[in-house]
Amino acid sequence: MTIKLGIIGAGRIGRVHADTLRTRVPGAEALAIADIYEASARSAAADFGIPDYSVDPAEIIHSGDIEAVVICSSTDTHCHFISEAARAGKNIFCEKPIAFDLAEIDAALAAVVEAGVQLQIGFNRRFDSNHARIKSAIDGGEIGQPHTLTIISRDPAPPPIDYIKVSGGLMMDMMIHDFDMCRFLLGEVEEIFALADVMVDPAIGEAGDIDTAKVMLRFENGAIGTIENSRQAVYGYDQRVEVFGSGGAVSSGNWHPNAVTVSDAASVRRDLPLNFFMERYMDSYAAEMMAFVEAIRAGETVPVVGNDGRAPVLMAMAGMRSIAEKRPVRLDEVEA
Ligand SMILES: NC(=O)c1ccc[n+]([C@@H]2O[C@H](COP(=O)([O-])OP(=O)(O)OC[C@H]3O[C@@H](n4cnc5c(N)ncnc54)[C@H](O)[C@@H]3O)[C@@H](O)[C@H]2O)c1
Repeated sequence: MTIKLGIIGAGRIGRVHADTLRTRVPGAEALAIADIYEASARSAAADFGIPDYSVDPAEIIHSGDIEAVVICSSTDTHCHFISEAARAGKNIFCEKPIAFDLAEIDAALAAVVEAGVQLQIGFNRRFDSNHARIKSAIDGGEIGQPHTLTIISRDPAPPPIDYIKVSGGLMMDMMIHDFDMCRFLLGEVEEIFALADVMVDPAIGEAGDIDTAKVMLRFENGAIGTIENSRQAVYGYDQRVEVFGSGGAVSSGNWHPNAVTVSDAASVRRDLPLNFFMERYMDSYAAEMMAFVEAIRAGETVPVVGNDGRAPVLMAMAGMRSIAEKRPVRLDEVEA
């Protein structure tokens, strides 16, 4: 049985999923792609062998041939499309974050439950082989009781200011992946303390955002975590995780285009890490989409559900409040 999908949004990540669906996901076929910019939809359809394109996402949502909708448009559109697709009886894959507002998220998640459809959120890093191995080491007891978690997550360069303005800010847009990684590895967080500033580009501050942040977290199980984000690491995409516990530690380093070291009289050196998410996480985008399609085909629950999309938004809100109020913030304060 082939699952027939439609894609909404033909930007950066929409094109990644369109490519992946065509080349790396057995049992799936993208029938159509929609974008408000006709040229974007048309070129994605041509580039990735998708038979139909449109400027109207409703054509995808209400198509009788399409069983699942992949939402890759800008974040402010996600909840509307989730609710519409759910009401039309479609299974849904939606990019992160679901939205910036809890009431809006709750209404969309309620529509999903009411319709009895499935919703998977695009937290692709869970499907990365490094992060998955760290998770299996923890779950398998290889490091004993986890005590601390350290995440370093730095981008090679900031996105355009126009993107920053609609992104929800560093915590909603970038650190949201790391908040999800915290929950994936060690479970729920109860308290967050954040320090942040503009150190990379004053224009980011003028747009109302920060570009550098360090966050401390207390988990419900007692473990302590830190996340460090920067919008600019001059040496490339820096993605490292360590969990330290009573029986040892598990850690992952960056991925490089090769495993070569060059040694001479001056230094021992190697090439820079893979530059950004398109290179570093490409396999994980394929793996998450395979998992979505497989779950739909098998009638099983998808691996990253609606609440996995909601919880990191709550954490981002706590982090933003912590910066504003210069104090640790409990998640239940934000929920209240
Ligand atoms: N999981 C990841 O690693 C990852 C990576 C990048 C982006 N994202 C998320 O994916 C989403 C899109 O990000 P992007 O980087 O691809 O942005 P983008 O700006 O490159 O693409 C968004 C596309 O959506 C289209 N669009 C906007 N409103 C629309 C509407 N109402 N109907 C149809 N199309 C519409 C735009 O024209 C644009 O082509 C964001 O929510 C972002 O957070 C996730």
